[in-house]
Amino acid sequence: MAIKQTTKITVKDLGTCQEYIPLVSKWLWKQWAHRSGHSLKGIIYRTEHCLTKKCPQTLIAFYNNRPAGTVSLWKADHPYRQDLGPWLSCLFVLPIYRNKGVGRALQATILKKAKLAKFKKIYLIANLKNYYEKSGWKFIENGLYTRGRFVNLYEYKL
Ligand SMILES: CC(C)(COP(=O)(O)OP(=O)(O)OC[C@H]1O[C@@H](n2cnc3c(N)ncnc32)[C@H](O)[C@@H]1OP(=O)(O)O)[C@@H](O)C(=O)NCCC(=O)NCCS
Repeated sequence: MAIKQTTKITVKDLGTCQEYIPLVSKWLWKQWAHRSGHSLKGIIYRTEHCLTKKCPQTLIAFYNNRPAGTVSLWKADHPYRQDLGPWLSCLFVLPIYRNKGVGRALQATILKKAKLAKFKKIYLIANLKNYYEKSGWKFIENGLYTRGRFVNLYEYKL
């Protein structure tokens, strides 16, 4: 008889499992940071200093106990919009675990934690189509970003 396996997504503070700092940093470096000239060492250093209980903080998701994704809450994520914050930043799910609800679980947990930290609103930058809208994020503007690019800004009322 086949054994039925129930899948389980868990989300933890990276601060409580710091052995995953190099792995999470490598994901983020490969996905984004190397393109803007950051070294992997620099991103590990950033992650090590992104582990408070409020802001900045970083979460890691596990899919059936395997590390599968991450998200952070940052004070600033937009060089031209220092009037806004905090920011949901660096939402990333490993390709093999995508479309299984890991991203949604990470988002829900970081929103809960931002609310617990008494923030009233949270922001993010995205160029995905109809992803954040599904979770209740409101589009604010398509605004100027670095290197002459334009990005979509979203807000979420906590
Ligand atoms: C975007 C990302 C975080 C989504 O993570 P995920 O775990 O696959 O997402 P979920 O399984 O929680 O998806 C939930 C829903 O969003 C949809 N979705 C997933 N990826 C999407 C994408 N790239 N664009 C639009 N919708 C997407 C799914 O189809 C699903 O829809 P449904 O609820 O109608 O079935 C993941 O694809 C990723 O890491 N991408 C690379 C990094 C990135 O772009 N991060 C976001 C920066 S703003």
